[in-house]
Amino acid sequence: MADDDGRTRLPQWKEDFPIRWEEDHYVTRRELAKFLTLGSALLVGANAAVAIAGRARRAKSFEPRRVAAASALAPGQALLFRYPTEEDPCILVRTRAGALVAFSQVCTHLSCAVVYRASDDKLYCPCHEGLFACDPGERGAQPLEGPPERPLPRVVLDVRGDDVYATAVVA
Ligand code: FES
Repeated sequence: MADDDGRTRLPQWKEDFPIRWEEDHYVTRRELAKFLTLGSALLVGANAAVAIAGRARRAKSFEPRRVAAASALAPGQALLFRYPTEEDPCILVRTRAGALVAFSQVCTHLSCAVVYRASDDKLYCPCHEGLFACDPGERGAQPLEGPPERPLPRVVLDVRGDDVYATAVVA
């Protein structure tokens, strides 16, 4: 475009937004691809770390509380208690094999109350037919059937003589 004097004029947009190529910082396609690849790898790694941390189970100690007399439960029997607060329903089970175990009674699907089913030695949620193992030790109440995907929090027990105490929750 030429002005009245016959000089070449820049288009208006180039005057408004001038590009100074000599000051520009060039990024090659290879550098951009490398940056995108590394960025994606970092995001994948961060997501994996968050997922692993979310699944790691942590024990939280509370004031020990006497739950029951150990002799009060025969194999295949259960009783309900609350721990660590009155708002936290739990279930103490003497499995058919004779082990004492305790778990939160709140289903990890939609929070219905699970019950002990002695016929198959499992914890059952009647709301949506959820089924949990009732194993002593680390594995605890893993989900077996139905919609629940996370295990029930485990209540750590300490048997002192004939007294059963709850001392911590592993969630
Ligand atoms: S609330 Fe327990 S299975 Fe849905």
